[in-house]
Amino acid sequence: MLGRVRAGVLEHGTVELLDRAGVAGRLHAEGLVHDGIELRFDGERHRIDFRALAGHGVTVYGQTEVTRDLMDARAASGAITIYEAQAVSLHDFDRASPKVRYVKDGIDHEIACDFIAGCDGFHGVSRASVPAGAVQAFERVHPFGWLGLMVEQPPVSDELIYASHERGFALCSMRSRHRSRYYVQVPSDERVEDWSDARFWDELRRRLDEETAERLLTGPALEKSIAPLRSFVAEPMRLGRLFLAGDAAHIVPPTGAKGLNLAMGDVGLLCAALAEFYGEKSQAGIDAYSARALARVWAAERFSWWMTSLLHRPPGMDGFARRIQRAEFDHLRSSQAAARSLAESYTGAFGVAGVTG
Ligand code: PHB
Repeated sequence: MLGRVRAGVLEHGTVELLDRAGVAGRLHAEGLVHDGIELRFDGERHRIDFRALAGHGVTVYGQTEVTRDLMDARAASGAITIYEAQAVSLHDFDRASPKVRYVKDGIDHEIACDFIAGCDGFHGVSRASVPAGAVQAFERVHPFGWLGLMVEQPPVSDELIYASHERGFALCSMRSRHRSRYYVQVPSDERVEDWSDARFWDELRRRLDEETAERLLTGPALEKSIAPLRSFVAEPMRLGRLFLAGDAAHIVPPTGAKGLNLAMGDVGLLCAALAEFYGEKSQAGIDAYSARALARVWAAERFSWWMTSLLHRPPGMDGFARRIQRAEFDHLRSSQAAARSLAESYTGAFGVAGVTG
């Protein structure tokens, strides 16, 4: 789990939630607060000033670091966590006493539950356990992927750069002041073996403006991989006493950096709903979980889809489609309302439900 390389842009509401959970110490010490991003269109630059437009910045802090902090806090609390369980299965979540069964070190186990939180990812057992027909899936598989490379070098810019270019999208991101993360859009069927580090750096440079390309500090890849781009939502997110949360229920393309923030939003809502159930003996939060979560999910799906469409070059793109992208970029430059809309969605100014609103 800690080996995976994932985006690290935390909304204000996500940071607040981690604060409330008492696990944000290292995040505040090591996270980088960013007050904006840069957009590039065929080398032309436009900065979106988050703080001026939306009142908040975002915090760049690797998702693997968040996971590490949560695992450490859990271990320190003395609560039991079972890692590497085999043959996990869910039972009776349509009744009052659901169960989780698993095998560990060759021994069968069963946990009697009040509720099951299905936070086990897109390929996990939770959504797969739901009877056919009980959830409806909505999906777009985008016809390209991101080839990502991590390098031990200071980032080329203090802020993230999202670049749209004739040759395809590129992103300059970072994990810290001395570790950078770069991406280039590639066809869906591309193989990472065909991309030497040199080929990657050449392609990235070509998609940036000259001045940025010259400043770029390269080096051997610490990690290099291709991620597909997908939009996916499963409805509903609650089935009896099973709650789906995070990637188990939805996927966004990485363009808007929403994946982790959406998962945090789900968990914030679920936590509030369960506190209400045990504290006030009220079902209201539990009954509202799916609708409340899905409203946020679809807002993030819209934004991630829009930002993906704005910046990528789909196969077979024609002149009309490219000029519409250009017009969209010009609109962001000339209309403060348009820029504010981007800033609000990116920073999550609509808030993490259950935490700020
Ligand atoms: C990343 O740093 O991996 C990253 C940042 C922003 C994105 C996607 C990925 O939109």
